[in-house]
Amino acid sequence: MEKGAGEKKRVVCVTGAGGFIASCLTKLLLSKGYTVHGTVRDPGDEKNAHLRNLDGGSGNLQLFKVDLLDYDAIASAIAGCEGVFHVASPVPSTKVPNPEVDVIAPAVTGTLNVLKASSEAKVKRVVMVSSAAAVRMTPNFPIDKVMDEDCWSDNEYCKKTENWYCLSKTMAEREAITYAEKHGLDLVTVCPSLVLGPLLQSTVNASSLFLVNILKGKRESMDNRVKHFVDVRDVADALLLVYEKPEASGRYICAPNPINIQEFIDILKSMYPNYDYPKKFPEIDDTSDKVHMSSEKLKKLGWKCRPLKEAIVDSVEYYKEAGILNKD
Ligand SMILES: NC(=O)c1ccc[n+]([C@@H]2O[C@H](COP(=O)([O-])OP(=O)(O)OC[C@H]3O[C@@H](n4cnc5c(N)ncnc54)[C@H](OP(=O)(O)O)[C@@H]3O)[C@@H](O)[C@H]2O)c1
Repeated sequence: MEKGAGEKKRVVCVTGAGGFIASCLTKLLLSKGYTVHGTVRDPGDEKNAHLRNLDGGSGNLQLFKVDLLDYDAIASAIAGCEGVFHVASPVPSTKVPNPEVDVIAPAVTGTLNVLKASSEAKVKRVVMVSSAAAVRMTPNFPIDKVMDEDCWSDNEYCKKTENWYCLSKTMAEREAITYAEKHGLDLVTVCPSLVLGPLLQSTVNASSLFLVNILKGKRESMDNRVKHFVDVRDVADALLLVYEKPEASGRYICAPNPINIQEFIDILKSMYPNYDYPKKFPEIDDTSDKVHMSSEKLKKLGWKCRPLKEAIVDSVEYYKEAGILNKD
């Protein structure tokens, strides 16, 4: 969208712009006429090359070399922005050797750095991508109840089960809310569930690997827990919606399409029969893995999302076209 004479460009910062969700969000923001300050750890890395080819990127996307632990670098990317989308956070796909250094510090200290720089730059609103991981990890949640924005993962339970990613997201979101309240910063958090959908980046991120590994026949057995799947384009829409709607506030769960794993595999099989799918689906004891989350608050704000089958088709067709299912 061209800006008329005298109309100011809307400048926003997206942290971790080269990642799965942030790339999709950056694409959406550029298509809506925003100018984007995208932070990446290494602007010269091939894995960020796709950003330079985004429609509307020429002149409207500026990349900043930023590690979340480097306050000055973050502050220079946020300076001059009216808003910030804090998306970057480590999402490991394998066990990490040092959880404190590899996951917790970048998530928690990194978030506080982003918020401090946002306060100093007097931005209008910060939208932070938290996670269903900060909502769900609580033992023995009543099976007849639905999880909503009042639900928080239990730090001690995350530690006991060594679920460092869940701990990092829970700590980061809680500390962000505390910081924002103390400093009068307008912060909205969004908690997506497992994100699928076509990729813009050349590397395969952890949540896409969930489906890729199923299709590659790498999962013989899967616990029959409830998963909620959301398309990356719908997550990007949610992030922009909560940014642009003045009345948006607090937390928003972004977790549609609850389904048992066994039923999910049955749908996949019916659509794509020629893959070697998991055959065993042991039932689990913990009711927390069976309950549903509600995205009603986000829907009431005006959010709409794709049906699960569309997200599946667009993901699988993208993996096939990109040759992802043939690579080791
Ligand atoms: N995908 C999901 O299912 C899902 C669900 C709920 C919430 N989320 C949240 O969504 C956000 C994006 O995740 P994603 O799925 O898009 O994964 P992703 O593609 O792995 O993106 C993570 C991004 O964080 C950046 N990052 C990690 N550590 C950093 C550090 N120390 N300094 C600067 N940047 C750092 C990564 O940069 P590099 O490329 O340099 O490593 C990358 O751009 C995360 O906050 C994640 O917790 C994801």
